[in-house]
Amino acid sequence: MTQDELKAAVGRAAVALVTPGSVLGVGTGSTVNKFIDALAEARVPLKGAVSSSEQSTQRLKAHGIAVLEAHNVDRLAVYVDGADEIDPRGFMIKGGGAALTREKIVADLADRFVCIADESKQVAVLGAFPLPVEVIPMAAAQVARRFAALGGQATARPGVLTDNGHPILDVRGLRIEDPLALEAEINQWPGVVTVGIFARHKAHTCLLGCSTGVRTLVF
Ligand code: 5RP
Repeated sequence: MTQDELKAAVGRAAVALVTPGSVLGVGTGSTVNKFIDALAEARVPLKGAVSSSEQSTQRLKAHGIAVLEAHNVDRLAVYVDGADEIDPRGFMIKGGGAALTREKIVADLADRFVCIADESKQVAVLGAFPLPVEVIPMAAAQVARRFAALGGQATARPGVLTDNGHPILDVRGLRIEDPLALEAEINQWPGVVTVGIFARHKAHTCLLGCSTGVRTLVF
């Protein structure tokens, strides 16, 4: 199967984890796009969705799925989103699509994070994928120097501003052995809006698309 077919397979599989009549958290990316399409095709009745990006909002609305504001929702049972890397404990790097801040906000609303990913995203240790970090512009150089002190090379993602109007730094060269500790540390740096380590908001379940079929990993 191609990577695109694996993404479609996990998108379809995730539909079974959606409770009819609920409000659903919806992430961002090409895998999530497959999930949104499968959800619409399956005609699962929903009260609505809380979306993590303008891109997903548009796709949900195009399928006639109501999009609710996060501030009007107390809790979500399930949040479905992709990942750029996922490790054996369910810790992830996210933000390849620049939606990491809203993704973390919606994940924080949810009781359960269901990660949907093809097998290329599975890693032993996080960090080969450049770590996305959304920053306030005046802090970008300062944050980059802090990463350099940790052995990382941070570069601004060219031509990209997030839905919140901020730039993204992509940090190469990190080997993230302790995602919880590094996320907590980076969160203390002035000017960091969101770091793309999802350790406190890790996956509870991962539907992993493999050549042999969809594997369910529980963390
Ligand atoms: C967007 C994300 C995506 O979930 C991540 O980049 C995976 O995307 P894709 O499903 O296209 O591989 O974090 O900010």
